[in-house]
Amino acid sequence: MTTLEDIVNPGILSLTPYEPGKPIEELAREQGFPPDQICKLASNENPLGPSPKALRAIQEALPHIHLYPDGAGRLLRDAIARHHGLSAENIVLGNGSNEIIELLFHVFVLPRTHEALCSRHAFAVYRLMAQLFDAPCRETPDPGFCHDLTAMRKAIGPNTRLIFLTSPNNPTGTRIPNPELEEFVRAAPAHAIVALDEAYIDFLDDPPPSVTWVRDGKNVVLLRTFSKMYGLAGLRIGYAIAPVPIASLLQRARQPFNTNSLAQAAAVAALEDQEHCENTRRIVREGRIRLEESFARLGLRFVSSAANFVMVQVGDGEALFHSLLRHGWIVRPLRSYGLTEWVRISIGTPEQTTRFLEVFPATLRETDPARGSAAR
Ligand SMILES: Cc1ncc(COP(=O)(O)O)c(C=O)c1O
Repeated sequence: MTTLEDIVNPGILSLTPYEPGKPIEELAREQGFPPDQICKLASNENPLGPSPKALRAIQEALPHIHLYPDGAGRLLRDAIARHHGLSAENIVLGNGSNEIIELLFHVFVLPRTHEALCSRHAFAVYRLMAQLFDAPCRETPDPGFCHDLTAMRKAIGPNTRLIFLTSPNNPTGTRIPNPELEEFVRAAPAHAIVALDEAYIDFLDDPPPSVTWVRDGKNVVLLRTFSKMYGLAGLRIGYAIAPVPIASLLQRARQPFNTNSLAQAAAVAALEDQEHCENTRRIVREGRIRLEESFARLGLRFVSSAANFVMVQVGDGEALFHSLLRHGWIVRPLRSYGLTEWVRISIGTPEQTTRFLEVFPATLRETDPARGSAAR
């Protein structure tokens, strides 16, 4: 008898789905806490919330949601293009930048023929998407949790079509130095696209001039998002910046109405509110220093971060995650990355950081008395 297993795509059968940060509502249900007493530091969202200007734009767009959105996303693509000094033809909108990753596979990867390449401990979605497309995703080692671009260059084969570089990387927080990145992009072979994931670029004080590489027509696609700095994670809106020939191919692969009207309106307004971004950048910088200094005082190993989160070695990451849940704190265990001893903590508001640093040492002592001893 034919079963579902006989007809399902092999990549689906063996796929372990992406593990998102635990939602506040789920913990509220499980522990009986009021949702407003729960604090989520698990998905690298903006601690200040969305820009008030984005909220106003959503209010104004609300009465029109019976109409389909502008499928071409013209206003938003124009605004993004102006922001970067490019043309709207360079911009492809996505339902989050995750969708751009999927579009890249649709456009460049044939199942069982081509392969992708990324660094060990790079963002998990590249590997998941490769599996969905029944394509290998090769990984290069990441000494000190940093991309090894020499190893990556050597690992490029004739069937490599997508090379994912993530800077700053999630979950490690490390970045690729600008000169190395530029050298890699400029020397990449013509048969492979460099997909430079810049979800956290807005947190860098000295971002790479990556838009120039697009302007120069390199085989590069920049992945950007409104989910982190711009505080719109719930609306699912991201974009690609690419040379026009590549952008046109990505446009062909997307659904006609892949981004919704509220997201488009909010993103235009969020982009204009650079003051909100500046405040966020300052809060994140200060919060990150406080977390890293506390971890150092506790004698914990952590990875110095260039983004709005810090990865810290706590012994049993899963146990600490569960202990913190009982106090109403959601952080991110990293078992799915093979980093069982680590957790990733997003930077919250100054008040949240103060409260977290009161709870964290005692919770660490509960789960790992040896490691938590410096916390007395
Ligand atoms: C490195 C990286 N890329 C892409 C994404 C996807 O972001 P979104 O789909 O919300 O734009 C994330 C989200 O966590 C990320 O960390």
